Amino acid sequence: MAKETLLSLENASVHYGGVRAIDNVTLKVDEHELIALMGPNGAGKSTVLKALIGLAPLSRGQVRWHGVAIKPKTHEMVARGIAYVPQGRQVFKSLTVLENLELGGYTLNNRSATKANIESVLHLFPSLREKLSHKAGLLSGGQQQMLTIARGLVADPKILLLDEPSLGLAPKVVKEVFEKIAEIHRERCIAVVVVEHSIKSVLAIATRVFVLSRGSVVLEGSPDSIDSEALHRVFLGQS
Ligand SMILES: Nc1ncnc2c1ncn2[C@@H]1O[C@H](COP(=O)(O)OP(=O)(O)OP(=O)(O)O)[C@@H](O)[C@H]1O
Ligand SMILES: [Mg+2]
Repeated sequence: MAKETLLSLENASVHYGGVRAIDNVTLKVDEHELIALMGPNGAGKSTVLKALIGLAPLSRGQVRWHGVAIKPKTHEMVARGIAYVPQGRQVFKSLTVLENLELGGYTLNNRSATKANIESVLHLFPSLREKLSHKAGLLSGGQQQMLTIARGLVADPKILLLDEPSLGLAPKVVKEVFEKIAEIHRERCIAVVVVEHSIKSVLAIATRVFVLSRGSVVLEGSPDSIDSEALHRVFLGQS
């Protein structure tokens, strides 16, 4: 049976003042996909996620939710079931791990549902369970990144948008983060869109790949179908 398309961008462009961040981008997120969004610095990866969650208004094109054109407002997108984990490991450092997780449930506006969801999320993150009363600022970089992802899951989203979860982490920790993303995708049956700058780690877990260069999609397909030489040329700025 064909998978349903949950969320899509259609011929979308975003400008910041005079800067064109993305140009004519078409991308759809089907249920239970794990999409990797790749490309060099400044290619427009973060802007695509921001356009999907309503943080970057389109100057052209459409956002569609279940096929219906919408003007995305961030709080409405969150209520529809989209969780967004921005670039840069943004934990509340002076709050405990548990308090950070509780904040992930604030849109549910229901303490017992939040508590139950935290319990369910902690099954995926046993290392956080051991540190619930620790200040988030004292966790390692990798654990902080795990916390931002766990916090995103507390709202029980249908789509998880992750912006460069591997940024600034040691290779061993990057591997753990990607294994965790693959596990989340497998266990929770949700769609995931993960932005990743570096090449290999994400191709192993993705079901579909989009490669951006200077604001446009230049390669798209299953991980196997992506020509590795073409990918290298994009990262070397030659296409
Ligand atoms: N708030 C902003 N104001 C002006 N220009 C911006 C703003 N945010 C992004 N840009 C520009 O838009 C383009 C795309 O930026 P974006 O952050 O989406 O790229 P990216 O692929 O996520 O890059 P990175 O790998 O560095 O995170 C870049 O040229 C960037 O300089
Ligand atoms: Mg970015």
